[in-house]
Amino acid sequence: MNKALDLPVPELGAKSQSQSQSQSPSQSQSQSQQQPQPQVGVSRAHESAHLHVSGEAVYTDDIAEVRGTLHAALGLSPVAHGRLLSIDVDQLRRQPGVVAVITAVDLPGENNCGPLLHDDPLLADGELRYLGQPVFAVIATDRELARRAAALARTVIQAEALPPVLTAREAHALGQYVVPPMHLQRGDAAAALAQAPHRLDGEWSVGGQEQFYLEGQISYALPQEDQGLLVYCSTQHPSEMQLLVAHALGGLAHQVTVQCRRMGGGFGGKESQSALFACIAAVAAARLRVPVKLRVDRDDDFLVTGRRHGFDYRWTVGFDDEGHLLAADIDLISNCGHSADLSAPVMTRALCHFDNAYWLPNVSMHGYCARTNTQSNTAFRGFGGPQGALAIEMILDGVARRLGLDPLVVRQRNFYRDGQSVTPYGQTVEDNLLQPLTDRLISTSDYHARRQEIAAFNAGSPVLKRGLALTPLKFGISFNVVHLNQAGALVHVYTDGSVLVNHGGTEMGQGLNTKVAQVVAQALGVPLARVRTSATDTSKVANTSATAASTGADLNGKAAQDAALRIRKRLEPLAAQLLGCDPAALVFEAGWVHVRTPEDADAVPAPDGTRSRIAFSELVAKAYLARIQLWSEGFYATPGLHWDRSTLTGKPFFYFAFGAAVAEVVVDTLTGESRVLRADVLHDVGQSLNPALDIGQVEGAFVQGQGWLTTEELVWHPKTGMLLTHAPSTYKIPTANDMPVDFRVALFDAPNRADSIHRSKAVGEPPLLLPFSVLLAIKDAVAAAGPARCDPPLRAPATAEAILAAVEAVQGASSAACEQRLRA
Ligand code: MTE
Ligand code: MOS
Repeated sequence: MNKALDLPVPELGAKSQSQSQSQSPSQSQSQSQQQPQPQVGVSRAHESAHLHVSGEAVYTDDIAEVRGTLHAALGLSPVAHGRLLSIDVDQLRRQPGVVAVITAVDLPGENNCGPLLHDDPLLADGELRYLGQPVFAVIATDRELARRAAALARTVIQAEALPPVLTAREAHALGQYVVPPMHLQRGDAAAALAQAPHRLDGEWSVGGQEQFYLEGQISYALPQEDQGLLVYCSTQHPSEMQLLVAHALGGLAHQVTVQCRRMGGGFGGKESQSALFACIAAVAAARLRVPVKLRVDRDDDFLVTGRRHGFDYRWTVGFDDEGHLLAADIDLISNCGHSADLSAPVMTRALCHFDNAYWLPNVSMHGYCARTNTQSNTAFRGFGGPQGALAIEMILDGVARRLGLDPLVVRQRNFYRDGQSVTPYGQTVEDNLLQPLTDRLISTSDYHARRQEIAAFNAGSPVLKRGLALTPLKFGISFNVVHLNQAGALVHVYTDGSVLVNHGGTEMGQGLNTKVAQVVAQALGVPLARVRTSATDTSKVANTSATAASTGADLNGKAAQDAALRIRKRLEPLAAQLLGCDPAALVFEAGWVHVRTPEDADAVPAPDGTRSRIAFSELVAKAYLARIQLWSEGFYATPGLHWDRSTLTGKPFFYFAFGAAVAEVVVDTLTGESRVLRADVLHDVGQSLNPALDIGQVEGAFVQGQGWLTTEELVWHPKTGMLLTHAPSTYKIPTANDMPVDFRVALFDAPNRADSIHRSKAVGEPPLLLPFSVLLAIKDAVAAAGPARCDPPLRAPATAEAILAAVEAVQGASSAACEQRLRA
C-alpha cells in the first residue's frame, strides 16, 4: 500500500505493477544482467534534485545577463480607485540611471494581458482600478536605480480618487461582476427544501491565499535579429506568454520565443499572471533594442498580482433525522478583483466541486464573480475546487452537530454510492473509492478509539481542548474547458543512444520532468540516466496548454510516450532483422533490445548466427546509418470529454482522484493557539508513476492548504484598499514548525480505471483539500469548549484571533439555544 516506506529507493527500484503487456519482466534465471528495470512506478529523485541542493539549478534570474542589459521597475497606483489625470514623466526621466519611461500611450500593440477577456490593462489607461496597479514602467541601468525612480509613483501620478469597492459582498450588492452569474441546478431544490424535516441556513466565508512561490515573478527579454524576441519567463504557460507578448508588440507569434527551464514554484500564480512581466520586459526590450529584465520584489509581487479567490457563501440546506442531505440552495460569491482573469473557470470548478464526495439529489447553485478594486484573483492550487468543496464540508459538520452525530457518520451517509452516483453537472462517478478508502483510513488511523480518548481528555481539561475530524475528497481531473486537454512532445534519440525530451509542460518543482523522463525511459527501455529533459520552449512544441489543473503528467506523459513509441516502432524492423526474430517478440529493456524469451536465445545460438540481444545504443547507431528517423513528435488529446457552458453540464473530467485525511489538533482556549498533533492521510494517485514525488506533492499540498485555513490572512485597509499583509512579516505561511507533529502519509495503491498514463492519477492539486480536516478538527475542539450540540461560528482562516472569537461565542451560548436551533 505504501510504497513510500521503501524510500530511499536506489536506481534498481521496487518491482512495478504498472508495466505494459509488451514489457512484462522475464522470469529467466539465466539473465542476471537483464533484470527487469521498470522506469515507472518506482521512486526516483527529482531530475534536478542535485542542482536544487547545490544551488546550481538555473532560475530565470540566474541566466547570465547579456552586456548592456537594462532593468525595469513598475510604478504603482497609489489609490484603489480613481481617474488617472497625469504622470510627470519628465521628473522620472531626470532620475539617475533612467533610460526610458513607458506609459500606456507608449505601448506599440494591445494594452492587455487578460487571458480570456481583454479586460486587463498592462499599464493603467485613464482608470485606476486597484492600489498597486502598474501605471508606468521605468527602465534604468540597474535594478536598484529603476526601483528608486519607480518608487516616486506617489509623487508623479496625479489622480482623482473615487470611492473603492473592496469586498465581494459590497460588489454583489451592487451587482458588479466580472462575468455574468452562473447557475447550476438539478432536481427541485425549493420543493425539497419545503418538505425537508430540518433546515439549516448559513452564511460563511473563507479568505484568499497568496501563492508565495519562492521565486517571484520575473521575465528577461532579449531582442533577436529581424524583429525577433527571446523571452525567458518564469511561467506555467509559455504559449500564452508568447501570444500576449506578440499582441503587446503588435507582432506575430512566430517572432516571439518563450523559454522556461524551471520555476521556483508557481502554484497557479504564474498561469496567467506572469504575462504582465513578460509583456513589459518585451515592450521595453523591443523599443530600446537592448535586453531588459523585470524582476519584482516580494512586496510588489503581493501588490501587483492576485491570488486565490476568497469566497463568501449563503446557504439553505434541508436534511432528515439521519443527516441525509435532501436539498441545497447555495450562493457562492468570489472576490475576483478588478478584472476577469481566470475567475470564470475558477467559479465553474467551484460549482463542480461543491458536491465533493456527496450525493445531492436537489441542488440550486449560483456563482457570482464579484468585481472589486483589488488585485485580480487567479489560479491557485485547486482552482476554486477547494472553495466549492469546503462549503459542503462546513454544512455537513453543522448538520451533524445539530443532530448530535459524529460528523464522520453524516459524511458517510451522504457518500456517492450505486444508484446515487451522478454529480449535479451530470457526470457519473465511476470507480468510486470513497467508502473503501475511508474505511481503511478509519482503521489505520484508529479513528474510533481516538474519538473516545479525546472526549475523555476534553472532559478533564478545561483550558486545552482537542479535536478530531476526518474529511474525504473527490477531485475532477482535466481542464474544465475541453480543448485545453491536449499536449505535444518532441523526443530526440541521438546516435549514441542518449535521449532528449521536450514537452509542453513546465517544471515548477512538482517533478513533471522526472515523470515524463521516466515514461520515455520506460517506452524506449533505457535507463533513466540516458534521458534528459530540456527547457520548455515555444519554438519546440507549439500551442501548449498551461501546466495546470494537475494534468501535467497525464497530458505530457502521454504525448511523450506517443513520441517515444513512434521511434521504437521505427527501430523494430531493424532490430528484428539483426536479432533474427519477429518484431512482435522484441523487448526493449534496461538499455538492451532482446527477443522475448532470452533464455532460449542465450542457451542456443541463433540459427543463422545472429545475436540474442543488441545494445540500444548500437541499434540506434545502426539505424542512423540505415537512414531511419530517430526523433519524433508525439501528441495526446484526452478522450471522451464534453461540456456545455450554458447549462454547466457534461463530462468535464476524465476521472476523479480520491483521498481522505484525519487530523487531530489541540486548541488553547485562553490564547486561541492551535497545533496539529497528528495527521493521517490516505490518498489515491492510481498506480503511482513515482511514489516519492507523489508523497512529496501530498505532504506539500496538505501543509499549503493548512496554511490557507489557519494562518494565512489577507487584510486590506478598509478605506484606502491597501493590502496590508504584503510580506512575510505580516502574511504567515506555514513553517517547518507548523507541520503535523505526527504526519503519516500513505498512497491508496489501485490502478486508475481510466486509460491514463501507466494507470496513474494526477496529484498536484487534489491533496490541497485534505487539510479541511485540520479546520474541522479545530472546530471540533472549539465545540468541546461549549455546550452539547453547539456549532462554533469559526471563521477561516482559523487564526488565533478567529479561534478565540469562536471559543467566546460557544462559551456564551446555552445548551438550550443550541438544541432550539435544530427545531427552527
Ligand atoms: N508543486 C510544486 N513544488 N510547486 C508548484 O508550483 N503547483 C501546483 C502543483 N504542485 C506546484 C506544485 C499546481 S497549482 C498544479 S496545477 C500542479 O502542481 C501542476 O503540475 P502537474 O500538472 O504536473 O501536477
Ligand atoms: Mo494549478 S491552480 O491549476 O496552476
